[in-house]
Amino acid sequence: MSDKGDKIETIENAGPVGGPATRGQRFKRHCARRWWIYLIATLLVILAVVLGIIFGAIPKIAQDSVNDSTLQVDDLAITNPSNDRFTLSMNSTAHSHAPVSAHFSPQTFEMYLPPAEGEQIVPFMTLSVGRLDIKDTLTINVTDVVTEILDKPAYDLFSAQVLDNEKLSLGIRSNPEVNVGAIKFKVDYQKTVELKGLNGLKGIELFNPEILEEPLEDGTNMVTDGVIPNPSSFTLQVGDLTVDISVGPQKLGWSVVKDLTLYPGDNHVKIYNHINPTLIKSPLFLFSIEEPNTEITLTANSTVYNGEHISWLEKPLHAAPPVIALLNPQ
Ligand SMILES: *[C@@H]1O[C@H](CO)[C@@H](O)[C@H](O)[C@H]1NC(C)=O
Ligand SMILES: *[C@@H]1O[C@H](CO)[C@@H](O)[C@H](O)[C@H]1NC(C)=O
Ligand SMILES: *[C@@H]1O[C@H](CO)[C@@H](O)[C@H](O)[C@H]1NC(C)=O
Ligand SMILES: *[C@@H]1O[C@H](CO)[C@@H](O)[C@H](O)[C@H]1NC(C)=O
Repeated sequence: MSDKGDKIETIENAGPVGGPATRGQRFKRHCARRWWIYLIATLLVILAVVLGIIFGAIPKIAQDSVNDSTLQVDDLAITNPSNDRFTLSMNSTAHSHAPVSAHFSPQTFEMYLPPAEGEQIVPFMTLSVGRLDIKDTLTINVTDVVTEILDKPAYDLFSAQVLDNEKLSLGIRSNPEVNVGAIKFKVDYQKTVELKGLNGLKGIELFNPEILEEPLEDGTNMVTDGVIPNPSSFTLQVGDLTVDISVGPQKLGWSVVKDLTLYPGDNHVKIYNHINPTLIKSPLFLFSIEEPNTEITLTANSTVYNGEHISWLEKPLHAAPPVIALLNPQ
């Protein structure tokens, strides 16, 4: 720095003394007098390059790495059902390559069924999450968030797919703000995840039928134990589930599972049966409940939680093909 200063000094002084200046000398002198202009120009160029990186290249790199990231939903729980809202919990893992240390500001994920070609996205629920530090493996676990049903027909369709399908796709999108140091910018986040559904509650098994000499106050005259398999990673609170039961064309009556929550895996439940009173004493009925592998046809009739019929559970369960349960499986 001080070297340069001396040099400038020298050139300035040299001017008036040594005869007519050559072209080169004049240029040098010009440069020397205007040095600060060049300094500013150089700084402006550097600034433009830095700003270009910040507002052009960094967001592009961030968007690229968001696009390349993957999302896996490990578990989803839908509890406290009502016709307008429910409680949602989700455990999920995102894998990405974060080139720099960065974080997402709090954001809201919108969820939807992937639309058919040319159709619009119709979000039916949202999930807000707090600040997330971006790491190669990012755990996004959210517990007990009350979620409004934004679009009932779309949510009915989702619920039907969760109950009936072996597999379903769920779209998740948001428009989060990425923070790299003091720089902030928005990126588009959009992923489709594959989930396992409850597959029509196939494979229900019934055990230990016990006819009650003295029916319960609510009219229950037979109790059985049941196992309801849930092959999905959904936890689904159903409430009181009522099903009509029959053996072949013979209607038997109806059954209730009280306060049912279906967890992933096998669900062991108590079943309260209301068997037609004239049937319950018949030798044929008594014989059929002692036999191995009696096929009982279950047709869902209603689901009630908190005294309310939950239409997005009741409708698809009722509309689904009847479930064949095996009594005394062997
Ligand atoms: C990221 O993916 C979206 C579609 O999801 C696409 O529109 C966009 O061009 C992609 N951006 C980059 C930077 O690759
Ligand atoms: C998320 O994981 C935690 C810890 O393993 C677990 O207790 C919780 O039930 C999970 N949430 C859901 C929605 O399954
Ligand atoms: C997040 O969810 C995953 C998957 O269920 C679980 O293994 C992990 O323990 C959870 N982490 C926390 C902090 O709850
Ligand atoms: C089943 O539904 C029908 C109407 O579809 C109703 O009349 C009947 O009472 C219901 N049975 C039970 C046990 O809820």
